[in-house]
Amino acid sequence: MQTDNSGFKTVRNSRTTITELMIPSYANFGGKIHGGILLGLMDKVAYVCAAKHAGTYCVTASIDNVDFLQPIEVGELVSLKASVNYVGSTSLIVGIRITSENVKTQAIKHTNTSYFTMVAKDDNHHSVKVPGLILETKEDVRRFADALRRKELKKQNHTVLKQIKSPQETDNYKQLLKNERCVIDIIL
Ligand SMILES: CC(C)(COP(=O)(O)OP(=O)(O)OC[C@H]1O[C@@H](n2cnc3c(N)ncnc32)[C@H](O)[C@@H]1OP(=O)(O)O)[C@@H](O)C(=O)NCCC(=O)NCCS
Repeated sequence: MQTDNSGFKTVRNSRTTITELMIPSYANFGGKIHGGILLGLMDKVAYVCAAKHAGTYCVTASIDNVDFLQPIEVGELVSLKASVNYVGSTSLIVGIRITSENVKTQAIKHTNTSYFTMVAKDDNHHSVKVPGLILETKEDVRRFADALRRKELKKQNHTVLKQIKSPQETDNYKQLLKNERCVIDIIL
């Protein structure tokens, strides 16, 4: 563990919240808020949080686990809380927790938590090293360690997914898909 904190910043320093009222033009055909609206807000808050920590422009490299747990209604007030959970060399992971408030009843629901991997860039678009992270609370430490575990799992998943993608004989697919709701009817 490094003890020299020069070039290190606290999680607190870049913690960011964006709050936005959900207006009718954000709704989908079912009258609920469009998923794309939320993704756009998530990308914005991730950028602000990452750029504050890095002190540079940042790009989104990947997004993990966007599961919309509950629908958001028009008229609700959505808050996105972002903080840097983990830093690597040129990348950092921003955790985003989204809640939605019914402003009339003040009932609050948790709609999703997602993780954005951002990469810091200089003015010439070269990746640059980001400051280390000073973990001031037990929560900061837990989030850093959890992010590290997720990163390892993601690496393992990539390896497994590469194997899945390797082409198979049709007979192997027939076996694999025998209990699925599809019919193999290849036109020759
Ligand atoms: C993301 C991007 C900068 C990575 O560039 P690269 O040359 O492959 O970079 P490297 O392999 O050197 O990786 C740089 C860092 O990003 C991380 N990284 C790269 N791709 C990643 C991915 N898919 N998921 C998580 N981390 C990733 C690496 O682990 C590395 O982290 P570290 O420096 O902390 O160890 C590049 O692919 C890019 O510019 N993509 C487009 C980004 C963009 O335009 N986003 C907006 C959405 S349209």
